[in-house]
Amino acid sequence: MTSIFPDISISTDRLVLRPFEEADIPELTDMMNDELTAAWTSVPAPYTVADAREWATRQAPAERTGGRGIVFAVTELLTHRLVGVVHIMKTDWERRTAEVGFVVGPWARGEGYAAEAVLAAAQWLFTGQGFERLELRTAAGNSASQQVAQKIGCVSEGILRNATVVRSRTEDGGWTDIRTDVIVWGLLPEDLEDSVAG
Ligand SMILES: CC(C)(COP(=O)(O)OP(=O)(O)OC[C@H]1O[C@@H](n2cnc3c(N)ncnc32)[C@H](O)[C@@H]1OP(=O)(O)O)[C@@H](O)C(=O)NCCC(=O)NCCS
Repeated sequence: MTSIFPDISISTDRLVLRPFEEADIPELTDMMNDELTAAWTSVPAPYTVADAREWATRQAPAERTGGRGIVFAVTELLTHRLVGVVHIMKTDWERRTAEVGFVVGPWARGEGYAAEAVLAAAQWLFTGQGFERLELRTAAGNSASQQVAQKIGCVSEGILRNATVVRSRTEDGGWTDIRTDVIVWGLLPEDLEDSVAG
């Protein structure tokens, strides 16, 4: 069974998770041109305005309409500033499971925004959409994302050895690929009761 998520927005105490708009392109370009994002995700580096346009206007909406997941632009409630992206992906409609990926812009880190946004998306999936499992995969060295996983109540379930490639800076200022392990984290509806961020 394949389905699609509704085209919705989610509000938290400090954030609004909503669909991307064309007006987000400049802020999205700035946000993704960032050392940590280049190192730990597979987004293009450098990230161009054309990359941002392609994501905001084509790829992100297509995730939802193609039944694969849903992409949220994360904005501050008070300022409307774009602070991040939450991407629910690899949705299995039959088993009601999905995976989540996320980025928070360098100017907005350390405020608990990633945990707040991912937790809100998880709560919506579990209570509003009847999902039973959300998976998070973090590269072994990505401490900040592991901290986010722990804060929202995820359980570390195991290590996929040599399962992904991350990027590391070279001496001449370029990037080189490095193979690394992946930690698999699972979040079930009952885990949210243990969540620090909730
Ligand atoms: C991972 C990321 C989304 C976290 O965003 P954030 O909004 O700063 O996250 P939060 O503030 O909710 O929580 C971050 C936690 O990690 C901790 N942290 C940050 N950098 C850290 C580091 N280098 N080592 C250990 N912990 C770290 C923070 O102290 C905070 O924990 P605390 O609230 O207990 O103090 C952000 O760093 C990012 O966008 N990184 C690049 C993209 C990425 O790695 N995405 C995840 C792919 S799985």
